[in-house]
Amino acid sequence: MKFFIDTANLAQIKEANELGILDGVTTNPTLMAKEGIKGEKAVMQHYIDICNIVDGDVSAEVISTDFESMIAEGEKLAGLHENIVVKIPMIKDGIKAIKYLSSKNIRTNCTLIFSTGQAIIAAKAGATYISPFVGRLDDISYDGMQLIAEIAQIFAVQGFPTQILAASIRNPVHIIKSAQYGAHVITSPLSSILALINHPLTDKGLAQFLADHAKVNS
Ligand code: G3P
Repeated sequence: MKFFIDTANLAQIKEANELGILDGVTTNPTLMAKEGIKGEKAVMQHYIDICNIVDGDVSAEVISTDFESMIAEGEKLAGLHENIVVKIPMIKDGIKAIKYLSSKNIRTNCTLIFSTGQAIIAAKAGATYISPFVGRLDDISYDGMQLIAEIAQIFAVQGFPTQILAASIRNPVHIIKSAQYGAHVITSPLSSILALINHPLTDKGLAQFLADHAKVNS
């Protein structure tokens, strides 16, 4: 399973990349705004800056909602760097844009997926990735992880090459369950990735080892 970080914060991207386990980055307009990146020139430069840090796929989201504008934006984003994946929303024109861009060998990530039906349509259109938002489903009392399991089963039965990118990850258990249920990729805030590393018994055990070593070597 690939690990992506879900942020536009360059310091956090660098920190995750230094772990040596980072396979890519996802961004969205909210995450870009959070970093204060505004204006087309600054946004484009920020995507290039991210691509220069991480050797892996970087999702850059279109902000148009009609077919013509989405494909124009998508082609522009894809031209920035070979690792850019164009993120397209799950709407009718988005499906047309995914189909068009995939016919031009431009990779896409279909975002805002909340149902198996949406996942099937996006895969059928040729999306490279689909992004089911597990945390936002949990927020409204639906089981986000169950959606990952259902999509993984359907994609396996149908042999769809589209990769399931579990998004809207809120905690380390979401990452573990995504791995268990067959997501190909998770995209997560840095905090949930780092939380996978920690265990109180590891800290306690290490403190004991170091104390015992110090006792006989002092
Ligand atoms: O990148 C899209 C997705 O991960 C958003 O997460 O936390 O805003 O639901 P969140």
